[in-house]
Amino acid sequence: MKTHKELHSESLADPVHFWGKQAERIHWNKKPQEILSQDEKGFYRWFEDGELNTCYNALDIHIENGRGSQRALTYDSPVTGTIAHFTYQQLHEKVSKLAGGLQSLGIGKGDTVLIYMPMIPEAVMAMLACARIGAIHSVVFGGFAAHEVAIRINDAKPKAIITATSGIEIDRIIPYKPLLDKAIDKAEHKPGYVVVFNRNFGAENSVRPRDIDFDQLVAKSIAVDCLPVKATDPLYILYTSGTTGTPKGIIRDNGGHAVALHFSMEHIYGLQPGEVFWAASDVGWVVGHSYIVYAPLLYGCTSILFEGKPIKTPDASTFWRVIAEHKVNVMFTAPTAIRAIKKEDPEGLHIQKHQVTNSLRYQFLAGERCDAATLQWLQEKLNIPVIDHWWQTESGWPMLANLMGSENPPPVKVGSASFPVPGYDLHILREDGQKATANEEGLVCVKLPLPPGCLPTLWQNDLRFQRGYLEQFPGYYFSGDGGFIDDDGYVYITGRVDDIINVAGHRLSTAEMEEVVAHHPNVSECAVIGAADELKGQIPFAFVVVKNTSIDSDALKKELIAQVREKIGPVAAFKTIVVAERLPKTRSGKIMRKLLRSIVDGEKYTIPGTIDDPDIPAEIEQLISIKKPIN
Ligand code: COA
Ligand code: AMP
Repeated sequence: MKTHKELHSESLADPVHFWGKQAERIHWNKKPQEILSQDEKGFYRWFEDGELNTCYNALDIHIENGRGSQRALTYDSPVTGTIAHFTYQQLHEKVSKLAGGLQSLGIGKGDTVLIYMPMIPEAVMAMLACARIGAIHSVVFGGFAAHEVAIRINDAKPKAIITATSGIEIDRIIPYKPLLDKAIDKAEHKPGYVVVFNRNFGAENSVRPRDIDFDQLVAKSIAVDCLPVKATDPLYILYTSGTTGTPKGIIRDNGGHAVALHFSMEHIYGLQPGEVFWAASDVGWVVGHSYIVYAPLLYGCTSILFEGKPIKTPDASTFWRVIAEHKVNVMFTAPTAIRAIKKEDPEGLHIQKHQVTNSLRYQFLAGERCDAATLQWLQEKLNIPVIDHWWQTESGWPMLANLMGSENPPPVKVGSASFPVPGYDLHILREDGQKATANEEGLVCVKLPLPPGCLPTLWQNDLRFQRGYLEQFPGYYFSGDGGFIDDDGYVYITGRVDDIINVAGHRLSTAEMEEVVAHHPNVSECAVIGAADELKGQIPFAFVVVKNTSIDSDALKKELIAQVREKIGPVAAFKTIVVAERLPKTRSGKIMRKLLRSIVDGEKYTIPGTIDDPDIPAEIEQLISIKKPIN
């Protein structure tokens, strides 16, 4: 086995050789000769002349190799009291029939299909069925409102949408289908069909002429084989928050994605095919795409699909029960989930009771910054390596990690997500593009080319890709995060340097929230910032200046909260608003968001000389004592 350093050096010294070798691990209908190339726009492409099918690599190949009777997917749903297992053979049958059903609706290669579903096996089947016939899926997270879904419908222009009647949030039934119908009503683009999986929870399902029943479609359809596509053809579009109100459609290609994810399962997560992997996330996020669906299946593991929360479903023992019951070998979750568990079970009694480490070897954390106390608590209670690793929707797989599948992984340093993963030539740059020195904070960038699996561009928006990621520092990809590298080469991520915040591991745009708030007829000015939160890491915190000071400010706050829920969704957790007389601004008229953030977080702040009015309004000064949601 090679060390992390050796693998990383090899990957940068000769990327073509390195990734060419890795590509031999997957099945190609046409083996790529052109490992790395640049297209006419100058964007890098991996395995350009190769052809493959991702679904074939995720299902069929394992059946051919004798894994047909191995569990591919275990569905564990404490909210419905269900546990169901699907072998590779069973999942293959469902997926290939659903793929046939989609084909019968006229969906084929290059068509887009939007998936708006809760955490049920049919969501995984829908994704794989699209991949099987070369259609491009776009999964939208269930916690988004109809307006957000409509934006994505207009951008992705799906021929069909696959949904379910409802989801469950702890003990509340969330009607998905009516919300989707509302989104379609709002959208300019109209899909031809809506395939609805009926969960039979109640009468919330009003049927429209375009609706097709999921089960009936599968039952009457003929299984179809995989259609080979080009390595560079898109497998999916995943919308993520950008620094403006319009989300960005991250494209994932087929070839690079399969190669990178396969590599990550062996070298980052240190797994063997046949083992059990659990990413406690949602299929609506990149973690769900990569590590609930594609990577475990591409690698021949069993993946856990968990429909529940770390607490309250029914309590803080759930995670440990799932690990013990399904013999999970490696797990991945967000620090927020661990913070929630720690709050309910500070002694970790549930961990002991379930003897988690009978099977669990490593616990990975990502999705947001991990505070030292949470990592150390988990490390102490589990007594196995707890590894913070860093990545983004854009990369699709880890960029910084401690490789558990390498020789002698170095010790974890609390606060650091360890080292650049093979393929990533990561640097900390100053604003002027010069390299920062050791321990100097700067902007986290990756020298091009990015490794396979990372976004090649944005969906039908090369210009935004160029401007958002490549233009700041020519020759580099700019991640949007700040950070530094210590004397030993460990990298520390200090947080976003833009308008993106991370609420309970969910990526959201404050600019988008500002757009909604500013739209209110009584708001003359506003600023939304990310405030530190003990449980969720960050929560949105709004400052509002009103036009008419005689209005009832509590009523206004309630209206604004309702509007953000209505336009963006409950997942934004938008609850805290301060009505201020004015906002601190620079002489050039820019709202000083950084200053507001420091005040809210109770950090020391200085009034810069450039500020127009150094007199901070009292209601902002007093924030620390009133930093509480109003409902
Ligand atoms: N469908 C519909 N609504 C959803 C949803 C979904 N898939 N996911 C979240 N929501 C809603 C919730 O019901 C809640 O609505 P409410 O304001 O009406 O109560 C709101 O969005 C916020 O949800 P959530 O972020 O889950 O907060 P919570 O307070 O209900 O639970 C935690 C707190 C810590 C238990 C929860 O945030 C959690 O499990 N965090 C870990 C998240 C995670 O794993 N992220 C990984 C991404 S990689
Ligand atoms: P997403 O695209 O939703 O995966 O969110 C990506 C962003 O989450 C990154 O750009 C970081 O700001 C943050 N993030 C993810 N993982 C970590 C981590 N381990 N440490 C610090 N920040 C993280």
